[in-house]
Amino acid sequence: ADLSRANTLRLPCIAEHAAAPTTLSEVRELLALARARRWPVTVLGGGSNVLLPPVLEGLVLRPALCQWWGRCEGDTLALHVGAGVNWHQLVMATAARGLWGIENLALIPGECGAAPVQNIGAYGVELGDVLEAVQVVDRASGRVQWLSARECMLGYRDSIFKGALEGQVVITQLVLRLSRRARPVLSYGDLAARVGANPTPLAVAEAVCAIRRAKLPDPAVLANAGSFFKNPIVSAGLAQPLLARHAQMPHFPQPDGRVKLAAGWLIDQCGWKGRRDGAFGVHAQQALVVVHDGQGSREELMRFANAIVADVKARFGVTLEPEPRWL
Ligand code: EPU
Repeated sequence: ADLSRANTLRLPCIAEHAAAPTTLSEVRELLALARARRWPVTVLGGGSNVLLPPVLEGLVLRPALCQWWGRCEGDTLALHVGAGVNWHQLVMATAARGLWGIENLALIPGECGAAPVQNIGAYGVELGDVLEAVQVVDRASGRVQWLSARECMLGYRDSIFKGALEGQVVITQLVLRLSRRARPVLSYGDLAARVGANPTPLAVAEAVCAIRRAKLPDPAVLANAGSFFKNPIVSAGLAQPLLARHAQMPHFPQPDGRVKLAAGWLIDQCGWKGRRDGAFGVHAQQALVVVHDGQGSREELMRFANAIVADVKARFGVTLEPEPRWL
C-alpha cells in the first residue's frame, strides 16, 4: 500500500501490507496473522505526527474503530471513543453538545488512538486533563487490557506508549471524562480576549480554530506535521544567562525548577522563519512548523532538521528534539 497520502508531511512510503480493522476482534485477528507470518507491525493513525521511512516491512495497522458513546454520571459524562475516531470531529461534536473538557484541543489533526501517545495538548489543556482510561491489545499475546490514565504516565508530549510500551500494544479505545459544568481554560495567549464572558464550549473551540488557522498551515493544503520540535525544558542554570542576554525570550518556569523555552522563538531568532531549502522549509507564520512541497525525501528532511538543531545549539546552547516520531 502507498502511504504517501496517509502521512500529513507527505513523505513517500510504501507498506508491504496494510489493513484497517474496524472491530476489536479484527485487531486481534490481524495481530495473530502478523505473529504467524513473523511480520513486524506498525500502527498508523492519522499520520500527522510520524516521519515515515520509504518502505515499511510487515503489516501497517490503521485502526478504524469509529464508534463513540457516552454514559452520564451526574454532571459528567464518561465518553468512550474508538481509536479511529477523528479527533477534531469529536471535539466539535462534544462542544456542540455543551460538554466541557476538550474544546481547547480543536483542530489538532489525527485520530483519537494517537492522542495518548504524545499526550496532545494546546492552549493550556492536554489530553491528560480528561483522560480516564485507555484500552489496548497486547501485540504478543492478543490480550485486551485497560490502563488507567495514571498507568499511561503522561508527560509533556510523552507517555508510556513512547517508553516501556513502545511497540508492545495497539490502542483501541479511550475513555474521557467531560463535564456539563462550565470550566473554560482561557489563560493562554489572547484566547480570553477572543471569547466574551460566559462562553460556551463551542465558542471556545471556534476561537481556538481561528487562532490555529492564522498560524498553522492546513496539512491538506501544505504538507506538515504540526510542531516539528518539542519546546525544550532546560535547567535554571542554562536558562538564566540566556534570559540575561535576551530579556524578551518567552520562558515558562516548571514546578521542578526547570524552565520551558519556546522552540519556535529560538528557531525564529536564528533566522529560519520562512526559509526554504529544496523541498523543505520553515513555515512563515510559525517557526516551529516544517513544511514540505511533496517532492522531498526522508534523508533531505533529516539534513534540513539537523541544520536547524545545529544553529539553535550554536547560538543558544539548547538541544532541540523532534516532536513527531521517526519510524
Ligand atoms: N514564537 C516566535 N516565533 C515563532 C513562533 C513562536 O517568536 O515563529 C514565540 C511566540 O511569540 C510565543 C512563543 O514562541 O511567545 C510560543 O509560541 P506559540 O504560542 O505559537 O506556541 P508554541 O510553543 O510554538 C505550542 C505547541 C503547539 C500548540 C501551541 C498552543 C509544542 C511543541 N507545541 O506551540 O502544539 O498548538 O503551543 O498551545 O508544545 C503540536 O504539538 O503539533 C502543536 C502545534
